[in-house]
Amino acid sequence: GLRRLPFARLGSGDAAFFESLMPGRACSNPEELKSFNVDWLKSVRGCSELLLKPKTAAEVSQVLRYCHERNLAVSPQGGNTGLVGGSVPVFDEIILSTALMNQIISFDPVSGILVCQAGCILEKLNEYLEERGFIMPLDLGAKGSCHIGGNVATNAGGLRLLRYGSLRGTVLGLEVVLADGTVLDCLASLRKDNTGYDLKQLFIGSEGTLGVITAVSILCPQKPKAVNLAFLGCQDFSRVQETFTTCRAMLGEILSAFEFMDEKCMELVEKHLGLSNPVRGSPFYVLIETSGSNSSHDEEKLNSFLEQAMTSGLVTDGTVAVDDKKIKALWSLRERITEALTRDGCVYKYDISLPVGKLYDLVTDTRARLGQSAKNVVGYGHLGDGNLHLNITAESYSHSLLDAIEPFVYEWTARYNGSISAEHGLGFKKKQFIQYSKPNEAIFLMQRFKAMLDPKGILNPYKTLPPSPSADTIA
Ligand code: FAD
Ligand code: MLT
Ligand code: ZN
Repeated sequence: GLRRLPFARLGSGDAAFFESLMPGRACSNPEELKSFNVDWLKSVRGCSELLLKPKTAAEVSQVLRYCHERNLAVSPQGGNTGLVGGSVPVFDEIILSTALMNQIISFDPVSGILVCQAGCILEKLNEYLEERGFIMPLDLGAKGSCHIGGNVATNAGGLRLLRYGSLRGTVLGLEVVLADGTVLDCLASLRKDNTGYDLKQLFIGSEGTLGVITAVSILCPQKPKAVNLAFLGCQDFSRVQETFTTCRAMLGEILSAFEFMDEKCMELVEKHLGLSNPVRGSPFYVLIETSGSNSSHDEEKLNSFLEQAMTSGLVTDGTVAVDDKKIKALWSLRERITEALTRDGCVYKYDISLPVGKLYDLVTDTRARLGQSAKNVVGYGHLGDGNLHLNITAESYSHSLLDAIEPFVYEWTARYNGSISAEHGLGFKKKQFIQYSKPNEAIFLMQRFKAMLDPKGILNPYKTLPPSPSADTIA
């Protein structure tokens, strides 16, 4: 098993220090700590005895300077919706929560640039922007809980990436507190800035291992005037693919999402959440969203695409939504798969990037391999981004089932030069599999960055990278 690294243990002097630094916001009540010690999936649990809720970067800086000096380990936490066990302590690391860092700093309606603290909830930011005619460039099922800082720390993808690109493009600046307490102010609000290395990129997707993100500057698109949604059924996966290429060609710049799910996913959202399927039984479903500035233009385009898709037999049945309520209901069918899966049993989650043509073969092969030993093997995801979510449910957790899945899934993915973590990160659960997607030289360089930025290794230990030195141990 994994051993606790020789960090210091909390003493009464530490508790007194934190209490004086942030009175009433340094919590050691075991009851209150419970939900912060366990992840969203309830699959990993830590035993932290201290939860800190700073309000400012200056406080984060004082916390880290102290922890660095005292050799105390820290686990940064946002909305705790991460799916790879990265957001909770492994042992007794101090939990540093951004829950109270929820202030909007500025919004410029001319440039569309929002600057806010890391603990702002994604959905709240989106609501704030909508009132001003803008939206966030990202959206995900966890929007009601996840924090923008957590989104940046995981480089979250989600449902709008197809249209607005990844956070690596839309995040314009970051304020980060380094492990020793240094405040790195790279909170630029410029579209263009080629002055030296782009340091913020190091922190995007670093999962709390290189620094604590305290503020974010992000470029936000205009709120589209017209949104349409089509939910369609396809007879096989090759038709799903062809529907995508056809729709991209015919919808062009107004296409804003292309998601897919298989019939097993549909069964689970119906069975566990009581949602109803508006489309006749099909092996596959796709959800296509358009966002544009002219509803009649968009509808005309969407209709001619639908006509083409129906007459050519790509799509067998479908429904379209233009009003908010129906749009939300259709989105739920896709967004709530994650929740339905957790109700189906214990879930083995895989988040894979592959060439789109190969995407569903992994589900078929895994299903055939596991046979009766799994309850359900399902595939869904961000097809337009080449991102498959392969999920397996079972009545209970078993080593033999895990051994049948891993490393099979990782080897399969590596064979087609895919990624074993498309958007969720490596966290605690996947760090030992990084070599399936990165060469040793890259892992070694990552470890050197980590050692430089966090020489004592106090920031989110046991996460993201395998222990150093890897060059010898990984191969
Ligand atoms: P947490 O879970 O709290 O933390 C995640 C990681 O970031 C941890 O390693 C943590 O240490 C670190 N971290 C958090 N805040 C900071 C900070 N301020 N500074 C430094 N490090 C920090 N993910 C996707 O990519 N796409 C999806 O479509 C998607 N859909 C989801 C749907 C559901 C229903 C759920 C439950 C999860 C989904 N996720 C998705 C996963 C998750 O929501 C994202 O990874 C999200 O970005 C995590 O944000 P959070 O604030 O909850 O971070
Ligand atoms: C999604 O796309 O629904 C999320 O990434 C969550 C998941 O993978 O279950
Ligand atoms: Zn996803």
